[in-house]
Amino acid sequence: MYIESLKYRDETWDLQNADTKAYTHCFHTYPAMMIPQIARKLLKEYGIKDGWLLDPYCGTGTSLVEASLFGMHSVGCDINPLVRLIATAKSTPICLSTLDKTVSKLNEHLFQIEFRDSKIPDAPIPNILNLEYWFSEESIKYLAYLRDWINKVEDETVRNFMWVAFSETVREVSYTRNGEFKLYRMPAEKLGSFKPDVFGIFSKKLSRNRNGLATFLEKQKNVEVSVSDANTVQGELPLPRPLGGYDIVITSPPYGDSHTTVAYGQYSRLAAEWIGLPNARKIDKLAMGGQHSKEILRDSPISPAIDKIRFVDEKRAREVSAFYIDLGRSINSIAQVLSPRATVCYVVGNRRVKEVMLPTDEFVVDAFHQYGFTHKATIVRNIPNKRMPKKNSPSNIAGETATTMHEENIVICQRPTHTWQ
Ligand SMILES: C[S@@+](CC[C@H](N)C(=O)[O-])C[C@H]1O[C@@H](n2cnc3c(N)ncnc32)[C@H](O)[C@@H]1O
Repeated sequence: MYIESLKYRDETWDLQNADTKAYTHCFHTYPAMMIPQIARKLLKEYGIKDGWLLDPYCGTGTSLVEASLFGMHSVGCDINPLVRLIATAKSTPICLSTLDKTVSKLNEHLFQIEFRDSKIPDAPIPNILNLEYWFSEESIKYLAYLRDWINKVEDETVRNFMWVAFSETVREVSYTRNGEFKLYRMPAEKLGSFKPDVFGIFSKKLSRNRNGLATFLEKQKNVEVSVSDANTVQGELPLPRPLGGYDIVITSPPYGDSHTTVAYGQYSRLAAEWIGLPNARKIDKLAMGGQHSKEILRDSPISPAIDKIRFVDEKRAREVSAFYIDLGRSINSIAQVLSPRATVCYVVGNRRVKEVMLPTDEFVVDAFHQYGFTHKATIVRNIPNKRMPKKNSPSNIAGETATTMHEENIVICQRPTHTWQ
């Protein structure tokens, strides 16, 4: 049961000037990333050395990296293959000397092309719809060369490391607008003067990430990490499953369906297509709340809010309902694999739709309560660092925007040993 008096604001969790890009956290940006310090603080308080952490919506793997630094084994799940690749690269030990040899060989080739030859060798160009709409002819040639080169790297861990730098490069050299997560092209008048240095950008990312990796390798403990495509909404359970169950969940689920909140799929699409990852155009549909549902959520802390939305917009109420039904199904799967003394920590935002506030924090407490968990605390923090869209359209009407949330809730629930076997 949700206990209002357990909700409090704590400014020490705002983490105003935190360095969010240390270790492998520097590898790749992504919308609505969790701040590593949140996972770190939670692990310090509730983590169990040599125990197991689960992040069922792991994104780029912030919790997994922190678990490795703390000394817990971890499993992360996400429906987006691009972030599974990033999370894997960030948390997998890579042999630095193999990496350095590969990178210096590549740099030699790039130097030859840039300063000796002038002609870039032909490389196969992937079959991507509207490729010329998003990239200049020059960028396509350079990216195709890098892609071909990376494809031939034998060591899988090194290849993944390079794909991650390539992915950010794809985004940066494309005609997508800066600071947008959705796929919007920059204004026509800017296209002609936009001449990104593809090789330069890629090399800088490789070197930045290499430095982050070196500090991660110094500090990480000898633990197992695994990233899986299990979709807990569909009842799929994460693997491997520790014998006694997972000891802790540290996660930040999506705020709502991708269509009206954060479009993870659109953000990832171009890079995923260049790399050749599956479902590049389907992620937003596969994500929580991505499928239409006729069902309306009943008997939940969210239900009164949904009823209010329904009063003004039936369709919107069904969309909101679909998201929470999915979130509930996912919690149902997760609860099955947790240890009898597990702690769950959900970082959630209470967004507004049609000016109605949706108490996601209460929904999470209520959903876990059904599996024997009790509400321990809900910490409210301001969001100074998290990259969120400046504006969204909560009413789902083009042109009607409102500022998005600037605070979030860290919901903590625990299962006392005696209530659940
Ligand atoms: C807020 S982001 C997580 C960010 C992550 N904490 C990080 O620091 O990068 C939410 C993630 O949930 C994923 N997601 C959406 N629906 C999902 C589902 N049904 N199963 C697993 N992951 C899902 C999205 O792809 C997205 O990566």
